[in-house]
Amino acid sequence: MKKAVRLDKFLADAGAGTRSEVKKFIQKGKVQVNGVPAKKSEIKVSEEDEVVLDGNRISQAPEFVYYLLHKPAGYVSATEDKRDKTVMELVASDRKGLFPVGRLDKDTEGLLLITDDGALAHELLSPKKHVDKTYYAVTDGCMTKEDVQRFADGLEIGEKNPTMPAKLEILSTRKVEETELEQYPSGWSSEIQLTIKEGKFHQVKRMTEAVGKKVVYLKRISMGVLTLPDDLKKGECPAQPGVHGKPPGRGSRKCKEFSGRRSPEKAVEKAIAATYALRPEDVPSERGFRANRQRLQNAKRCSGPFLVL
Ligand code: URA
Repeated sequence: MKKAVRLDKFLADAGAGTRSEVKKFIQKGKVQVNGVPAKKSEIKVSEEDEVVLDGNRISQAPEFVYYLLHKPAGYVSATEDKRDKTVMELVASDRKGLFPVGRLDKDTEGLLLITDDGALAHELLSPKKHVDKTYYAVTDGCMTKEDVQRFADGLEIGEKNPTMPAKLEILSTRKVEETELEQYPSGWSSEIQLTIKEGKFHQVKRMTEAVGKKVVYLKRISMGVLTLPDDLKKGECPAQPGVHGKPPGRGSRKCKEFSGRRSPEKAVEKAIAATYALRPEDVPSERGFRANRQRLQNAKRCSGPFLVL
C-alpha cells in the first residue's frame, strides 16, 4: 500500500496539473474525496481513497508519464537553458525527471514526446532502431526529381558515412512573389515531406543544403507511429490524468527484456496508448484538449495491459 500524501501532491503527481493549478481546482470545489468535496489541499489521501476531479476518477501517480507536445518555434528542446525558453515550460506538470525525447531545433515546430520513461526514449532514439521521423518543410529553392533520387541514395553531409536512404516527396513547387524574395532569394520554393531513419544534428537542414537548397520552415509530423494530431495546437501538451500502472516487465530486472525484444513501434504504441487511451470525457476541460475520436479509437486498439483507466 502506498503511503498517504497531500491531496494537491496526489493530483499533481497523477498529471492532473501543476501544484498551483490543482490547488485552484480544489479551491473551486472541483475535487471530491470519497464523495465529499475537498476543501483543503493539505488533506492526506492514499490510493485507497476515491479522488475525483470534474467527475473523473484520478489514480495515484503512474510509474511513467507521456506528453505529446506540439512544439512551437522559439523553444529549445532541453530541460534547462540559461538563455532560452525550454519546451519543459509548456508541460503542465511539476513531476521530476521529465525530459524531451530527442531534439528539435529552436526554430523547428511539431511533434515532441516528453516523458520520464528512459527505456522508451532509448527505443525511439537509439541509432540502431531506425525509427522513422517524418518532417514537413518549405525550402528556398526548387526541389527536383534528381534530389528525390539523391536523398534515396544517401547524401554526404560531412559525417563519417553518408546518410541512410531517405524518402523525399515533393508536395508542390512555386515561383515566389517579388515581395518574398528576401525569404526566398532563389525565386523558387518547394513544399516537401521527408522521412529519415536517423537523427543526426540538423539532419534535414544539412541534407537539403547538400542538394543546394535551404530549409526555411521545418515541422516534425511523426515519429514512428506517433503522429502530430491535427487538432493539437502549437504549445499544447495534453496531460493524461488517470493513466497509471506498470508496463509488464518494466521493473529493473526485466528492463533488458523490454528494450531488447520490443520493436520501436511497439514502444511508441505504448506512448500513444498512454497519451490517447483516455475517453474524451475523461479529459478535464481545463486542458483545452479536444480529443480526436478516431485517434482515440486507434489508440485503444493498441493500448497495452499496462494501462489501467
Ligand atoms: N532536422 C533538422 O535539421 N532540424 C530539426 O529540428 C530536426 C531535424
